Amino acid sequence: MRRTLLVGVLVLACGVWFAVADEDPTKDSGNRWPAFKPVMNIHSLMKEQDRHFENMLELLRDTSAEKRFKRLTHEAKALAEMANINGYHKGSRKHDDYRAWAAQLKAQANQFAELAKSHNADDAMKLARQMNKTCKSCHDKYQD
Ligand code: HEC
Repeated sequence: MRRTLLVGVLVLACGVWFAVADEDPTKDSGNRWPAFKPVMNIHSLMKEQDRHFENMLELLRDTSAEKRFKRLTHEAKALAEMANINGYHKGSRKHDDYRAWAAQLKAQANQFAELAKSHNADDAMKLARQMNKTCKSCHDKYQD
């Protein structure tokens, strides 16, 4: 009983300590979360985009996959988020067409998620082909 109480107090103390320690980095910005800045470089971001897109294609093919449409929705949303982040990369600010392709991929991935939610695999497959063209358009100009 005493021991439980002691552990409880310790956990509480740690919680308070972490809460206080956590506060410091945001104080400079008036306690607001700082403006968005990508953490990954473009190379890592692309690896993630690729992984989500491959997962989507695999789930489209595998009609018996467990929770197929739920997973398709998740993968599409994750890809949309990666495309969203891509538009914030410092290089993209200088190039309107780069940002436009990133925005297009984001919109297409969001639309894909809606199709997945309504279990529309046929239209999702067609859209995946369009998305592939968006990847390619940007790569043709910007991938070395
Ligand atoms: C708005 C521009 C843009 C779009 C859209 C885009 N990419 Fe990229 N991608 C790049 C750039 C820039 C690079 C080169 C970055 C590097 O490797 O340093 C790249 C590189 C890659 C690479 C190579 C990474 C490596 O290992 O060298 C893969 C894989 C990739 N992209 C996948 C995708 C897929 C899949 C899509 C579409 C679902 C996509 N990209 C859409 C800009 C884009």
